[in-house]
Amino acid sequence: MKKIALLTSGGDAPGMNAAIRAVVRTSIYYGVEVVGVRRGYTGLIEKDFLPLNLGSVADIIQRGGTILLTARCDEFYKEEGRAKALVNIKEEGIEGLIAIGGDGTFRGALELEKAGVPVIGIPGTIDNDIPCTSATIGFDTVVNTVLDAINKIRDTATSHERIFVIEVMGRKSGFIALEAGLAGGAESIMIPEFPLKVDDIINNIQRGLNRGKKHSIILIAEGAADAREVTKEISEKTGLETRLSILGYIQRGGMPSAQDRLLASRMGAEAVNLLLRGERKRMLALDGEQIRNFDLDWAINQSKTVSLEDLRLAGMLSI
Ligand code: F6P
Repeated sequence: MKKIALLTSGGDAPGMNAAIRAVVRTSIYYGVEVVGVRRGYTGLIEKDFLPLNLGSVADIIQRGGTILLTARCDEFYKEEGRAKALVNIKEEGIEGLIAIGGDGTFRGALELEKAGVPVIGIPGTIDNDIPCTSATIGFDTVVNTVLDAINKIRDTATSHERIFVIEVMGRKSGFIALEAGLAGGAESIMIPEFPLKVDDIINNIQRGLNRGKKHSIILIAEGAADAREVTKEISEKTGLETRLSILGYIQRGGMPSAQDRLLASRMGAEAVNLLLRGERKRMLALDGEQIRNFDLDWAINQSKTVSLEDLRLAGMLSI
């Protein structure tokens, strides 16, 4: 293999740049040319290619976002869009593609694979909602970002003796809410996988009140419930001052944690190794301390759910 392409697609995640760096430097180390595709699949359709060299990825390991830019590309889901992309791939002499992103990114990569392009997927999304891997690039950083927010909100919640509802991202999954909630000592955690009733949250608040505790942190994953409605209901039913804080897009940015940089570096290098060994249609995954790989099609169709034990533990530790 003489020339490979690399793209990031879907929501950006801290650590994507570290993965880009690892792919580029590993490829160059082995004498393989790398082309960056800008704005994910949009760049494939528009032939927005960027030759990458050692210097192109200098000073990016610590930066959030993605230097290749990213997008969600509807045109790529149509036959016509994909045909354009395939022509461009051929014209550019690209022999393999590494796609960094989440579920949508991988489904796009599989379409290219079907058309004969060898693809490797690197899981990069803050949501951690990719099966077969215990962590996705960006997840550790977002948990720390949310934790920092919880710590700060707790200061004001305590001072004002208020209830705080904090909404976090996660699409249809509750990984961010659960891990940040457990680490941050949230009194209640509401996630799509095991939705709590508002009355259960109120019972938790009441239990705190009975022992003189007048503040409470309630973490809600965006896919679990309408945080505004929940806040209103708590306020009306308890008569306590209740505030809502939607953390929003600050969760997607920021300097990647050490863990995310390590994961990205290891997965990025291994993605290149796989292509050079003639492997195709594989997805990188973290399993304990090991980087493994699975058939991409099979992997994304497995299920993955949050730890029920952690949810129970969070409930037990917040009494
Ligand atoms: O997939 C990452 C994510 O940040 C989700 O947590 C969130 O629901 C979504 O992307 C937001 O997407 P957009 O950038 O299109 O608003």
